[in-house]
Order: sequence, then structure tokens, then C-alpha cells
Amino acid sequence: MAASSNRNLAQVQRRVAELHHGTDPEQQLCFYDGWAPEYEQDVGVLEYQAPRLAAACLASAFQGPLEDALVLDVACGTGLVAQELQATGFHRFHGLDGSQEMLACAGKKGLYQELKRCLLGQEVLPAPEGCYDAVLIVGALSEGQVPISIVPELLRVTKPGGYLCLTTRDNQTNLRYKTELQQLMDELEQRGLWEKVVVQEVEKWERATSGQESTQGLDYISGVVYLYRKKRRSE
Ligand SMILES: C[S@@+](CC[C@H](N)C(=O)[O-])C[C@H]1O[C@@H](n2cnc3c(N)ncnc32)[C@H](O)[C@@H]1O
Repeated sequence: MAASSNRNLAQVQRRVAELHHGTDPEQQLCFYDGWAPEYEQDVGVLEYQAPRLAAACLASAFQGPLEDALVLDVACGTGLVAQELQATGFHRFHGLDGSQEMLACAGKKGLYQELKRCLLGQEVLPAPEGCYDAVLIVGALSEGQVPISIVPELLRVTKPGGYLCLTTRDNQTNLRYKTELQQLMDELEQRGLWEKVVVQEVEKWERATSGQESTQGLDYISGVVYLYRKKRRSE
């Protein structure tokens, strides 16, 4: 998926550890600005698979012609998700991210018809209600990154009948966040706003960035891909 790297695992782990220590959103985005040029190499070292897994999950369930579907990639970073989606047959992408440098890298891929800066969780999404056939947020729903309050906004901009694909991680420092996310997703389902299509638990999600982060003593952390479908009024 990602380009080969001259950096070793220890160097990448040190860099990612800086990210997990920050809590202020502006600081986090400055961190991503600085990481953008080496992001793809580094996540290659971490064996980060979330973009490929999310794209495959969405493509396998999506109803209708993939090439016509308008997809919103939230927290798009350097564009790995659109790259993976394009390989499955999707072609129409809009992207949002809070880091200008990440957006600049995504722009160079030439895959997105629209890229906008947005502070996720602080601003409403710059899109009208019900305009996307599919909305994804990959690698950004975790402690210290995008708050779970984004989820109703993701639903708002999705077309009735459209799909939402979300990922999160299972490492120790993310367990509280993941529990709150699941509670919110269940509540939205109970209110009849969306329905669960797939929950894919992945044991080797990516390499752990510290012993404390690893799952059951493995060198990897686990993660989850969730796929939901927004209900139509008549359903
Ligand atoms: C780990 S990267 C994931 C990027 C891409 N989705 C992928 O899977 O490669 C997280 C992205 O979320 C963005 N991000 C994190 N918190 C954010 C926030 N509060 N508002 C906007 N963007 C945010 C970062 O700038 C970064 O590009």
C-alpha cells in the first residue's frame, strides 16, 4: 500500500508516541502538518491496513454503480482511502481534513474533485444534508483525534439509503473512546436513523507503538471496521 521507508520501526514508534501525548486539537493538526511528507512511508512501516480494509468493506456491500457514487472521505489525510477506493471501482471523491499539509499531499494524488479544510468536531461539515452516497472516516476516530460528536454530522450529510464506514482501534488508551463510540452508534440505531451492515474485528490492525499499546502481549493492536446504512424515512 505505502511506499518503502528508510525509517525503522523504532523511529516511527517514537514519532507516533508524540501524537498520542498531545491533546489540544490545534497541536495535533500541527503535528500532522509536520508528518505529512513522511506519513505514507511511516504507516507502511506500521503495516497500517485500515484504508484497504475500509474500502474493501464498503465496496463489498455497496448497492448500485460504484463509478457514479459520490464519496466523502472525512479526515482524508494524504488520500490513502481514495486510492484504495479507486482500486475497487469508486471514482468520485470529496475530502476533508484539518491539516493543510495533509490536504496538499492528498491534492497531489489528483483523485479528489474537492478538498476542504475542516476542524472536525468543532465545525459543521461543509456539505448540505443528504448529498453523499457514502461517507468514510478512517484512522481518525480515536482518543485525542476526532471527537465522537462528529458521528451525527456524518449521518446528516449521507443520502438516505447511503453507507457510512467508520474505523477505530482497540488499544488500551483508546478503550474508553471506543466504548463511548459504540454506545452512540447503538443509540442512533435504536432511534432508527441507521442500521448496522458489517462489524469487522481485525486482530492485526497495525503494529503497536509501545508495549503498553499492544493487544495481549502481541506486537500488534487490533481494530474494527463498522459499516452502517442510513435509513430512508419510509423504512
Ligand atoms: C491517522 S490520519 C488518517 C488519514 C487517512 N484517513 C488514512 O487512513 O490514512 C488522521 C487524519 O485526521 C486528521 N485529523 C485528526 N484530528 C482532526 C480534527 N480534529 N479535525 C480535522 N482533522 C483531524 C489529521 O490531520 C490526519 O490527516
